[in-house]
Amino acid sequence: MNPVPTIALAGVHGYGHSYLARLRPRIAAGTFRWAGVADPRLGVGALPEGLPADVPRYGDLADLLAEQRPDVVAIATPLHTHADLAERALRSGADVVLEKPAVTGLGEFAHLLDLAQAEGRSVQVGFQSLGSAALDHVRTRVAEGRIGEVTGFSAAGCWVRARSYFTRAPWAGRRRLGERVVADGVLTNPLAHAVATALAVAGRQSLEDVLAVEVDPFRVNDIETDDTTSVVVSLRDSPDLVLAATLAAAEPGEPFVVVEGTRGRMTLYYTLDVVVEELPGRPPATTQHPRVDLLDDLLRHRLDGRPLRSPLASAGAFTRVLDAIVNGPRPRVVRPDAFRVVELPDGDERRELPGVEEAVHEALRRRSTFSGCGVDWT
Ligand SMILES: NC(=O)c1ccc[n+]([C@@H]2O[C@H](COP(=O)([O-])OP(=O)(O)OC[C@H]3O[C@@H](n4cnc5c(N)ncnc54)[C@H](O)[C@@H]3O)[C@@H](O)[C@H]2O)c1
Repeated sequence: MNPVPTIALAGVHGYGHSYLARLRPRIAAGTFRWAGVADPRLGVGALPEGLPADVPRYGDLADLLAEQRPDVVAIATPLHTHADLAERALRSGADVVLEKPAVTGLGEFAHLLDLAQAEGRSVQVGFQSLGSAALDHVRTRVAEGRIGEVTGFSAAGCWVRARSYFTRAPWAGRRRLGERVVADGVLTNPLAHAVATALAVAGRQSLEDVLAVEVDPFRVNDIETDDTTSVVVSLRDSPDLVLAATLAAAEPGEPFVVVEGTRGRMTLYYTLDVVVEELPGRPPATTQHPRVDLLDDLLRHRLDGRPLRSPLASAGAFTRVLDAIVNGPRPRVVRPDAFRVVELPDGDERRELPGVEEAVHEALRRRSTFSGCGVDWT
C-alpha cells in the first residue's frame, strides 16, 4: 500500500464540488494524493473550483482506471450509475467512497457486497451523519435507560425544493430511467440521511433487520417519483420506525430523528450534530458533538482496520426500505387545488402543500402513515 494513498473522483460537478472542497486541505496536508478525476462533463466550461489543472482528467472512470491505479475511488455521480462505477473501482483494487444511496436495488446491493468481499476491499457509503459522535451519544444514553424503555423510532424532514431542482438533470425526480432504477424519491435521495440515521440510531442496519415496510407516497410536483412520503418500517426485535418527509414545505425545517421512551425522548438533529434530551421535570438538555469526515474514517480503517462508520453492509436495511419504496405503490398525485404555486426569481417556482408540516408531525405522533392520519390531498 502507498504511504500516501492516491484518490480518484468520479463526478466533479454537483455534489462532486463538496469532494473537491474536502480533498483540497487533505491533499495539501499530504493525507491523499490525486490520481485523477472522471466526468463526461469535464470538457464543458471552466474547471470546477478546487480542481488543480495538473490533475489527470478523463471522460469516464474506465479510461481513468486503464491508466491510473488509485487506492481510493470516490463516486459522486447520479444514483443509477453507482453500482457499475463502484464495481469497476473495486475490480481495479481500490477502496470506494460511494455517495448515497449506494445502490438502487437489492440485487445490486448483494452483488457489490459480495464483490467487495471477494476483492478484499472496503466501501464507505456517503451517509455523512453516520460519522457523528451525536449518534453514539444517543445510542449510549438510550442503552443506559435515560429515557426508559424505547417505544418507537421516527424521523422527519420538511424541505423546500423548486422546479429547477427537478429539472437540473435528466434523472432528477425519476423512479426509473430506461432500464435503470433511479430512486430519486424524497426518502431515498434528498432525505435519505433521515432514514439511514434513524436505522443507525435503532441499531437496525442490516438487510435482515427490516421485516416489513408500509409505503404511502404522494407527489406535489410534476415528477415521476414521490416528494411527500410516509413509511412505517417494522424492525426485527425493535419498536417500529415511522418516517415522514416532504419537499413541498412552506419553509425549510431542520430534519431530525427521534427516539421515544417511557420516561422521555431524545431528538437528534443529524445535520447539526445536535442532540436534545427531554425528561419530565427538567429543562431540555442540548448537546453538540463532533463528527469525523468519512474520507478520514476510511483512511483510518485502511491504516489499522478499525470498522468503518458507514460500511456498505450497514446500508442493507436502508436499501430494503429503498427497494420497498421503488417497487411499492406509485405516488398519488396531489390535486391542484390542494397546493400553492409560489413564484421565484428567474422564472423559477416551487409548490407548497399547506398543512404538510402538521401532517408530518401527526404521522409521527400517531405512528401512522399520512393516509392513516386521513390526509385529504388527492
Ligand atoms: N451526501 C450528501 O449530503 C449529498 C448531497 C447531495 C448529493 N449527494 C449525492 O451525490 C451524488 C451526485 O448527485 P448530484 O446531484 O451532484 O448529481 P449530478 O447529476 O449533478 O452529477 C454529478 C456529476 O456526475 C457526473 N457524471 C454523470 N455520470 C457519470 C459517470 N458515469 N462517470 C463520471 N461522472 C459522471 C455528472 O456529469 C456531474 O458532473 C448522488 O448520489 C447524490 O445523492 C449527496
